Amino acid sequence: PLHPRAEAHGKVIVLGEHAVVYGYPAVAAGLPQGIVLEASPRPDPRLPITLTIPAWDLDLELHAGSDHPVARACLEVLAHCDGPVTGWALHGASALPARAGLGSSAALTVALARLVFGPDASIDDVVAASLAGERVFHGEPSGLDSRVAAQGGVLRYVRGEPPRSIVPGAPLPLCIIPSGIPRSTADQVARCRSRLEHLPSVVRPVLIAIGQAVESGIHAIEHGDLDTLGVLFDVAHGLLGALDVSSPALDRMAADARAAGARGAKLTGAGCGGCLLALAGDAPDAAARLTAAFPTLRPLFVEVAAS
Ligand code: MEV
Repeated sequence: PLHPRAEAHGKVIVLGEHAVVYGYPAVAAGLPQGIVLEASPRPDPRLPITLTIPAWDLDLELHAGSDHPVARACLEVLAHCDGPVTGWALHGASALPARAGLGSSAALTVALARLVFGPDASIDDVVAASLAGERVFHGEPSGLDSRVAAQGGVLRYVRGEPPRSIVPGAPLPLCIIPSGIPRSTADQVARCRSRLEHLPSVVRPVLIAIGQAVESGIHAIEHGDLDTLGVLFDVAHGLLGALDVSSPALDRMAADARAAGARGAKLTGAGCGGCLLALAGDAPDAAARLTAAFPTLRPLFVEVAAS
């Protein structure tokens, strides 16, 4: 028995991706663009569950033995049901691009966990079930994506600790620019790990510096100091490059965003594709200049304010 409807947020990591896997802090914001998942009974309750998300080109049957990662992840979440579940058609609507570093997989697994547990479920239970699915996509998720997908808002997150809500002192004018290059989070987490294992004495301080950038960034967010936050975006992009998770395309996009008046720009999420995150400037034509700088990429503007 599934509940009929559930929602989850998308997420954008403001600062701290990759280092968060190793226990350093990160700060992320829920996006209003997320997923709405609806369940309706199939004509025969013995039929396998189907999952259709047209926006992500997904049309799957969820049955044991499927080797599709989305099917396997969903089955991990559904394993939290009491007893086997069949006989449902799941339909998802989303305005998030999939596999772009905006938390699409966490949004899906969180919404599915809410179909299982219902609207009154605790966030911790939902996050735990979502994480069982996220582990299929990448072996050692920090849990940040699931937490933000379930909770929304702006959160300071450290693996294994309760998150802290951050109240921005001034609205954050975020501009998310999809590179159009899909990538796998698991591969990117592995690239970072391999660099850390190869050169621990050099790369460990890079992770520590990212954690410091997060703490300084939270201070800047709380005090509405967007100029400092912009500088921290640029610093973080360089540090992520040192972890081997940027790419020539993302580096070019970051330079183009700065040239178009952004206060700072960095990759967001796993990197090597996915999205660029720019902090827009305060000129009246700031959004128009960023849009003009990326004529084919459809930047998404999100103002994150105290809720
Ligand atoms: C992926 O959205 C964020 C990473 O830090 C991985 C994780 O936190 O599990 C790259």
